[in-house]
Amino acid sequence: MAQQKATNITWHDATVTVEDREKLLNQKGCVIWFTGLSGSGKSTLANAVEQVLHQQQHHTYVLDGDNVRHGLNKNLGFSPEDREENIRRIGEVAKLFADAGTIVMTAFISPYRADRDQARELVAEGRFVEVFVDCPLEVCEERDTKGLYKKARAGEIKEFTGISAPYEAPADPEVTVNTAELSLEESAHAVVASLVKAGLVPNGN
Ligand code: ADX
Repeated sequence: MAQQKATNITWHDATVTVEDREKLLNQKGCVIWFTGLSGSGKSTLANAVEQVLHQQQHHTYVLDGDNVRHGLNKNLGFSPEDREENIRRIGEVAKLFADAGTIVMTAFISPYRADRDQARELVAEGRFVEVFVDCPLEVCEERDTKGLYKKARAGEIKEFTGISAPYEAPADPEVTVNTAELSLEESAHAVVASLVKAGLVPNGN
């Protein structure tokens, strides 16, 4: 758990509220949290969902694991502590995006249930949609899009999720998408349908 270091700081309330921004944008600011193994298709799916929502005139943003680790989180590795801090920061950033009225999608392995639950706690009830990108390890390894599983099996990468580090599957996700069985289009449709059902975006506008 990160410690509060600063003292003598005061919270300022904004005069333009999240409701004002949401009215302008005709959507609800929310966090769509994709979780799954490396190579399960999180980024691909998040981008496909963003494409659909964007075409429906929605304001969106994708926070992607590999990309965020080049900037904001460049000082973090893959130890359990660093992964926890990685997800803590992403959760806080996602909260800010949601507060701005944006539909923000996060595509991180986020292997620990407790860390994902903590991210959920940061936003209002109903504004966090956990998407379990459920793809068997064998399929992810077979795909090996980045060649990392091969390296992990050879012992060249330590603490690799699914091989030498744990992945805790969500117990009760809002959506589960098996990317080994569904097409990208079908998977994206399942996620968008859940957003409509949850009242976060209007029906197919
Ligand atoms: S997380 O576990 O902290 O959520 P994150 O999603 O940011 O991970 O980064 C995962 C990506 O980093 C993987 O898709 C892969 O490309 C790369 N990577 C490098 N080393 C590892 C490792 N030891 N375990 C998992 N992914 C790794």
